Amino acid sequence: MVKIADESTTELSKLPGVGLATAAKLQEAGYDNLMSIAVASVGELEEATGLGSAQVRKIINYAREKLQMGFQSGAELLERRSKVSKIPTGSKALDTLLGGGFETGSIVEAFGEFGSGKTQLGHVLAVMVQKIDPEAYAVFIDTENTFRPERIEQLAKGAGLDPKQVLSHIKVARAYNSDHQMLLAEKVEDLIKKDKLKVKLVVVDSLTAHFRAEFIGRGTLAERQQKLNRHMHTLLRLADVYNVCVYVTNQVMASPDVFFGDPTRAIGGHIVAHASTYRIYLRKGKKGARVAKLVDSPHLPEGEAGFYVKEHGLEDL
Ligand code: GTP
Ligand code: MG
Repeated sequence: MVKIADESTTELSKLPGVGLATAAKLQEAGYDNLMSIAVASVGELEEATGLGSAQVRKIINYAREKLQMGFQSGAELLERRSKVSKIPTGSKALDTLLGGGFETGSIVEAFGEFGSGKTQLGHVLAVMVQKIDPEAYAVFIDTENTFRPERIEQLAKGAGLDPKQVLSHIKVARAYNSDHQMLLAEKVEDLIKKDKLKVKLVVVDSLTAHFRAEFIGRGTLAERQQKLNRHMHTLLRLADVYNVCVYVTNQVMASPDVFFGDPTRAIGGHIVAHASTYRIYLRKGKKGARVAKLVDSPHLPEGEAGFYVKEHGLEDL
Protein backbone atom coordinates (compact mmCIF):
# COMPACT_ATOMS: atom_id res chain seq x y z
CA MET A 1 0.00 0.00 0.00
CA VAL A 2 1.37 3.39 -0.92
CA LYS A 3 0.88 5.99 1.72
CA ILE A 4 0.55 9.56 0.73
CA ALA A 5 2.76 11.73 2.86
CA ASP A 6 0.88 14.09 5.09
CA GLU A 7 2.14 16.78 7.42
CA SER A 8 3.31 14.52 10.22
CA THR A 9 5.10 12.21 7.80
CA THR A 10 6.96 15.23 6.53
CA GLU A 11 7.83 16.30 10.07
CA LEU A 12 9.10 12.82 10.87
CA SER A 13 11.14 12.64 7.70
CA LYS A 14 13.24 15.49 9.07
CA LEU A 15 14.57 13.12 11.71
CA PRO A 16 18.21 12.17 11.04
CA GLY A 17 18.44 9.30 8.57
CA VAL A 18 14.68 8.98 8.21
CA GLY A 19 13.20 9.16 4.74
CA LEU A 20 9.57 9.18 3.77
CA ALA A 21 9.32 5.40 3.83
CA THR A 22 10.64 5.08 7.38
CA ALA A 23 8.53 8.04 8.41
CA ALA A 24 5.47 6.23 7.11
CA LYS A 25 6.48 3.12 9.04
CA LEU A 26 6.87 5.12 12.22
CA GLN A 27 3.53 6.70 11.70
CA GLU A 28 1.82 3.44 11.03
CA ALA A 29 3.23 2.05 14.28
CA GLY A 30 1.72 5.02 16.11
CA TYR A 31 4.81 7.21 16.43
CA ASP A 32 3.46 10.17 14.56
CA ASN A 33 4.83 13.04 16.60
CA LEU A 34 8.13 13.93 18.20
CA MET A 35 6.85 13.38 21.72
CA SER A 36 5.87 9.78 21.06
CA ILE A 37 9.36 9.17 19.69
CA ALA A 38 11.13 11.04 22.47
CA VAL A 39 9.60 8.79 25.13
CA ALA A 40 9.91 5.54 23.17
CA SER A 41 12.49 2.92 24.03
CA VAL A 42 15.21 1.91 21.60
CA GLY A 43 13.85 -1.64 21.31
CA GLU A 44 10.34 -0.47 20.50
CA LEU A 45 11.49 1.76 17.68
CA GLU A 46 13.84 -0.85 16.29
CA GLU A 47 10.89 -3.18 16.05
CA ALA A 48 8.69 -0.58 14.44
CA THR A 49 11.17 0.62 11.84
CA GLY A 50 13.64 -2.18 11.22
CA LEU A 51 16.46 0.33 11.74
CA GLY A 52 19.57 -0.49 13.76
CA SER A 53 19.93 0.54 17.38
CA ALA A 54 22.55 3.24 16.72
CA GLN A 55 20.27 4.91 14.20
CA VAL A 56 17.26 4.60 16.48
CA ARG A 57 19.22 6.19 19.33
CA LYS A 58 20.03 9.14 17.10
CA ILE A 59 16.36 9.58 16.25
CA ILE A 60 15.29 9.46 19.88
CA ASN A 61 17.98 11.90 20.94
CA TYR A 62 17.03 14.27 18.15
CA ALA A 63 13.38 14.22 19.24
CA ARG A 64 14.41 14.79 22.85
CA GLU A 65 16.59 17.73 21.95
CA LYS A 66 13.91 19.25 19.75
CA LEU A 67 11.45 19.01 22.61
CA GLN A 68 14.07 20.19 25.07
CA MET A 69 13.54 17.19 27.25
CA GLY A 70 15.90 16.49 30.07
CA PHE A 71 15.94 18.69 33.11
CA GLN A 72 12.91 20.79 33.79
CA SER A 73 12.71 23.58 36.26
CA GLY A 74 10.58 23.19 39.35
CA ALA A 75 8.30 25.89 37.99
CA GLU A 76 7.77 23.96 34.76
CA LEU A 77 6.98 20.84 36.71
CA LEU A 78 4.48 22.73 38.82
CA GLU A 79 2.82 23.97 35.63
CA ARG A 80 2.63 20.37 34.39
CA ARG A 81 1.17 19.25 37.69
CA SER A 82 -1.53 21.89 37.33
CA LYS A 83 -2.90 19.99 34.32
CA VAL A 84 -3.43 16.93 36.49
CA SER A 85 -7.04 16.30 37.42
CA LYS A 86 -8.30 14.06 40.19
CA ILE A 87 -11.11 11.60 39.76
CA PRO A 88 -13.22 11.45 42.91
CA THR A 89 -14.55 8.08 44.06
CA GLY A 90 -17.61 9.02 46.09
CA SER A 91 -15.77 8.13 49.30
CA LYS A 92 -14.25 11.21 50.90
CA ALA A 93 -11.94 9.05 52.98
CA LEU A 94 -10.54 7.29 49.92
CA ASP A 95 -10.21 10.57 48.01
CA THR A 96 -8.35 12.16 50.91
CA LEU A 97 -6.04 9.18 51.17
CA LEU A 98 -5.09 9.76 47.53
CA GLY A 99 -4.73 13.51 47.90
CA GLY A 100 -8.07 14.33 46.28
CA GLY A 101 -8.84 11.35 44.09
CA PHE A 102 -7.30 9.18 41.40
CA GLU A 103 -4.78 11.29 39.53
CA THR A 104 -4.50 11.64 35.78
CA GLY A 105 -0.95 11.31 34.52
CA SER A 106 -0.38 8.44 36.94
CA ILE A 107 -0.60 4.70 37.17
CA VAL A 108 -2.59 3.56 40.19
CA GLU A 109 -2.30 -0.07 41.12
CA ALA A 110 -4.84 -1.76 43.39
CA PHE A 111 -3.87 -5.12 44.75
CA GLY A 112 -5.76 -7.37 47.07
CA GLU A 113 -7.45 -10.74 47.42
CA PHE A 114 -10.57 -11.80 45.51
CA GLY A 115 -13.67 -9.80 46.36
CA SER A 116 -11.70 -6.95 47.88
CA GLY A 117 -13.31 -4.48 45.46
CA LYS A 118 -10.69 -3.97 42.75
CA THR A 119 -13.10 -4.50 39.86
CA GLN A 120 -15.83 -2.48 41.56
CA LEU A 121 -13.43 0.42 41.91
CA GLY A 122 -12.69 0.22 38.18
CA HIS A 123 -16.41 0.54 37.42
CA VAL A 124 -16.75 3.44 39.86
CA LEU A 125 -13.86 5.31 38.23
CA ALA A 126 -15.24 4.76 34.73
CA VAL A 127 -18.37 6.59 35.85
CA MET A 128 -16.82 9.24 38.06
CA VAL A 129 -14.32 10.37 35.41
CA GLN A 130 -17.39 11.47 33.45
CA LYS A 131 -18.81 13.24 36.47
CA ILE A 132 -15.88 15.65 36.44
CA ASP A 133 -15.77 15.90 32.64
CA PRO A 134 -18.81 14.89 30.54
CA GLU A 135 -16.61 14.70 27.45
CA ALA A 136 -14.22 12.23 29.03
CA TYR A 137 -13.96 8.65 27.87
CA ALA A 138 -12.98 5.59 29.88
CA VAL A 139 -11.31 2.54 28.37
CA PHE A 140 -11.80 -0.80 30.07
CA ILE A 141 -9.43 -3.62 29.18
CA ASP A 142 -11.19 -6.61 30.62
CA THR A 143 -9.17 -9.79 31.03
CA GLU A 144 -11.52 -11.76 33.29
CA ASN A 145 -14.86 -10.92 31.74
CA THR A 146 -15.95 -8.98 34.79
CA PHE A 147 -17.06 -5.73 33.15
CA ARG A 148 -20.82 -5.29 33.70
CA PRO A 149 -22.74 -2.60 31.85
CA GLU A 150 -25.66 -3.07 34.26
CA ARG A 151 -23.35 -2.14 37.10
CA ILE A 152 -22.34 1.01 35.23
CA GLU A 153 -26.02 1.91 34.87
CA GLN A 154 -26.53 1.66 38.63
CA LEU A 155 -23.44 3.70 39.38
CA ALA A 156 -24.29 6.34 36.77
CA LYS A 157 -27.73 6.80 38.30
CA GLY A 158 -26.11 7.02 41.70
CA ALA A 159 -23.82 9.77 40.43
CA GLY A 160 -26.75 11.67 38.91
CA LEU A 161 -25.64 10.98 35.33
CA ASP A 162 -27.49 9.61 32.32
CA PRO A 163 -26.64 5.88 32.20
CA LYS A 164 -26.90 5.66 28.41
CA GLN A 165 -24.60 8.62 27.93
CA VAL A 166 -22.12 7.22 30.44
CA LEU A 167 -22.10 3.80 28.76
CA SER A 168 -21.53 5.40 25.38
CA HIS A 169 -18.35 6.95 26.78
CA ILE A 170 -16.87 3.67 27.96
CA LYS A 171 -14.92 1.60 25.46
CA VAL A 172 -14.61 -2.00 26.55
CA ALA A 173 -12.35 -4.66 25.09
CA ARG A 174 -12.02 -8.21 26.26
CA ALA A 175 -8.39 -9.38 26.28
CA TYR A 176 -8.02 -13.08 25.57
CA ASN A 177 -4.37 -13.51 26.44
CA SER A 178 -1.38 -11.45 27.48
CA ASP A 179 -0.34 -10.60 23.92
CA HIS A 180 -3.84 -9.45 23.14
CA GLN A 181 -3.89 -7.41 26.32
CA MET A 182 -0.62 -5.71 25.36
CA LEU A 183 -1.94 -4.97 21.89
CA LEU A 184 -5.12 -3.45 23.27
CA ALA A 185 -3.11 -1.15 25.51
CA GLU A 186 -1.14 -0.02 22.48
CA LYS A 187 -4.39 0.60 20.60
CA VAL A 188 -5.58 3.13 23.17
CA GLU A 189 -3.33 5.65 21.50
CA ASP A 190 -5.39 5.25 18.32
CA LEU A 191 -8.56 6.10 20.20
CA ILE A 192 -6.92 9.29 21.37
CA LYS A 193 -5.18 10.31 18.18
CA LYS A 194 -7.21 8.87 15.33
CA ASP A 195 -10.68 8.83 16.84
CA LYS A 196 -9.99 12.00 18.83
CA LEU A 197 -11.58 10.61 21.97
CA LYS A 198 -10.79 12.41 25.18
CA VAL A 199 -9.60 9.33 27.04
CA LYS A 200 -8.98 10.24 30.69
CA LEU A 201 -9.07 6.78 32.26
CA VAL A 202 -7.72 3.39 31.24
CA VAL A 203 -8.64 0.42 33.41
CA VAL A 204 -6.68 -2.81 33.06
CA ASP A 205 -8.52 -5.44 35.09
CA SER A 206 -6.68 -7.64 35.76
CA LEU A 207 -3.19 -6.49 34.85
CA THR A 208 -1.47 -9.71 35.81
CA ALA A 209 -3.97 -12.61 35.54
CA HIS A 210 -3.03 -13.63 31.98
CA PHE A 211 0.68 -13.24 32.65
CA ARG A 212 0.38 -15.33 35.75
CA ALA A 213 -1.56 -18.07 33.99
CA GLU A 214 0.63 -18.21 30.90
CA PHE A 215 4.07 -18.10 32.43
CA ILE A 216 4.30 -20.85 34.98
CA GLY A 217 7.47 -22.00 36.69
CA ARG A 218 10.85 -20.53 37.28
CA GLY A 219 12.12 -20.91 33.73
CA THR A 220 9.56 -18.51 32.33
CA LEU A 221 9.80 -15.83 34.98
CA ALA A 222 12.32 -13.69 33.13
CA GLU A 223 10.26 -13.75 29.96
CA ARG A 224 7.11 -12.88 31.88
CA GLN A 225 8.76 -9.94 33.59
CA GLN A 226 10.14 -8.72 30.30
CA LYS A 227 6.71 -8.71 28.69
CA LEU A 228 5.12 -7.18 31.72
CA ASN A 229 7.79 -4.51 31.64
CA ARG A 230 6.91 -3.66 28.05
CA HIS A 231 3.24 -3.55 28.93
CA MET A 232 3.89 -1.21 31.86
CA HIS A 233 5.96 0.96 29.57
CA THR A 234 3.01 1.33 27.18
CA LEU A 235 0.73 2.23 30.06
CA LEU A 236 3.23 4.66 31.52
CA ARG A 237 3.45 6.40 28.20
CA LEU A 238 -0.33 6.75 28.02
CA ALA A 239 -0.35 8.28 31.48
CA ASP A 240 2.58 10.57 30.77
CA VAL A 241 2.00 11.74 27.23
CA TYR A 242 -1.80 11.97 27.28
CA ASN A 243 -2.45 12.81 30.92
CA VAL A 244 -4.53 9.66 31.43
CA CYS A 245 -5.22 7.98 34.75
CA VAL A 246 -4.27 4.33 34.35
CA TYR A 247 -5.90 2.08 36.92
CA VAL A 248 -4.58 -1.48 37.09
CA THR A 249 -5.63 -4.33 39.33
CA ASN A 250 -3.43 -7.05 40.66
CA GLN A 251 -4.01 -10.13 42.74
CA VAL A 252 -1.91 -11.00 45.73
CA MET A 253 -0.04 -14.24 45.76
CA ALA A 254 -1.52 -17.01 47.83
CA SER A 255 1.80 -18.59 48.73
CA PRO A 256 5.23 -17.15 49.33
CA ASP A 257 7.11 -16.58 46.12
CA VAL A 258 10.75 -17.50 46.37
CA PHE A 259 11.75 -14.73 44.01
CA PHE A 260 10.21 -11.89 45.91
CA GLY A 261 10.06 -13.27 49.39
CA ASP A 262 7.15 -11.45 50.95
CA PRO A 263 3.96 -13.56 50.95
CA THR A 264 1.67 -10.52 50.86
CA ARG A 265 3.36 -9.22 47.77
CA ALA A 266 1.42 -8.38 44.64
CA ILE A 267 2.09 -10.28 41.44
CA GLY A 268 4.48 -8.77 38.97
CA GLY A 269 7.07 -7.92 41.58
CA HIS A 270 9.22 -4.87 41.32
CA ILE A 271 8.36 -4.18 37.69
CA VAL A 272 4.72 -3.39 38.37
CA ALA A 273 5.52 -1.78 41.71
CA HIS A 274 8.08 0.61 40.28
CA ALA A 275 5.98 1.63 37.30
CA SER A 276 3.00 2.46 39.51
CA THR A 277 2.80 5.97 40.90
CA TYR A 278 0.34 5.00 43.59
CA ARG A 279 -0.23 1.57 45.05
CA ILE A 280 -3.24 0.70 47.14
CA TYR A 281 -3.71 -2.47 49.07
CA LEU A 282 -7.40 -3.37 49.32
CA ARG A 283 -8.84 -5.71 51.88
CA LYS A 284 -12.16 -6.69 53.37
CA GLY A 285 -12.94 -4.95 56.64
CA LYS A 286 -15.66 -5.37 59.23
CA LYS A 287 -19.37 -5.49 58.32
CA GLY A 288 -18.78 -5.61 54.59
CA ALA A 289 -16.57 -2.55 54.54
CA ARG A 290 -13.49 -2.32 52.39
CA VAL A 291 -10.21 -0.88 53.57
CA ALA A 292 -7.70 0.77 51.26
CA LYS A 293 -4.14 1.26 52.38
CA LEU A 294 -1.83 3.58 50.49
CA VAL A 295 1.40 1.67 50.17
CA ASP A 296 3.64 3.71 47.91
CA SER A 297 3.26 7.28 46.91
CA PRO A 298 5.66 10.01 45.89
CA HIS A 299 4.36 12.71 48.21
CA LEU A 300 1.50 11.44 50.35
CA PRO A 301 1.79 9.89 53.80
CA GLU A 302 0.91 6.23 54.13
CA GLY A 303 -2.52 5.74 55.58
CA GLU A 304 -5.80 3.88 55.41
CA ALA A 305 -9.35 4.64 54.34
CA GLY A 306 -12.50 2.62 54.91
CA PHE A 307 -15.59 2.68 52.69
CA TYR A 308 -18.60 0.65 51.60
CA VAL A 309 -19.38 -0.52 48.08
CA LYS A 310 -23.09 0.28 47.71
CA GLU A 311 -25.46 -0.08 44.79
CA HIS A 312 -25.24 3.63 43.97
CA GLY A 313 -21.46 3.84 44.46
CA LEU A 314 -18.85 4.14 47.17
CA GLU A 315 -19.86 5.49 50.54
CA ASP A 316 -17.93 6.55 53.62
CA LEU A 317 -18.22 4.45 56.75
P1 GTP B 1 -11.17 -10.57 42.09
O1 GTP B 1 -11.31 -10.00 40.72
O2 GTP B 1 -11.87 -11.86 42.24
O3 GTP B 1 -9.75 -10.66 42.55
O4 GTP B 1 -11.93 -9.59 43.11
P2 GTP B 1 -12.12 -8.02 43.08
O5 GTP B 1 -11.18 -7.41 44.03
O6 GTP B 1 -12.14 -7.52 41.71
O7 GTP B 1 -13.57 -7.89 43.72
P3 GTP B 1 -14.83 -7.11 43.17
O8 GTP B 1 -14.51 -5.72 42.87
O9 GTP B 1 -15.47 -7.92 42.12
O10 GTP B 1 -15.69 -7.06 44.49
C1 GTP B 1 -16.74 -7.92 44.71
C2 GTP B 1 -17.52 -7.37 45.88
O11 GTP B 1 -18.08 -6.10 45.54
C3 GTP B 1 -18.69 -8.24 46.19
O12 GTP B 1 -18.32 -9.23 47.13
C4 GTP B 1 -19.70 -7.27 46.72
O13 GTP B 1 -19.46 -7.09 48.09
C5 GTP B 1 -19.37 -5.98 46.03
N1 GTP B 1 -20.30 -5.77 44.92
C6 GTP B 1 -20.19 -6.25 43.69
N2 GTP B 1 -21.21 -5.86 42.92
C7 GTP B 1 -21.99 -5.13 43.70
C8 GTP B 1 -23.22 -4.44 43.49
O14 GTP B 1 -23.78 -4.44 42.41
N3 GTP B 1 -23.73 -3.78 44.54
C9 GTP B 1 -23.12 -3.77 45.75
N4 GTP B 1 -23.68 -3.13 46.74
N5 GTP B 1 -21.96 -4.40 45.97
C10 GTP B 1 -21.40 -5.07 44.97
MG1 MG C 1 -11.97 -8.44 39.85
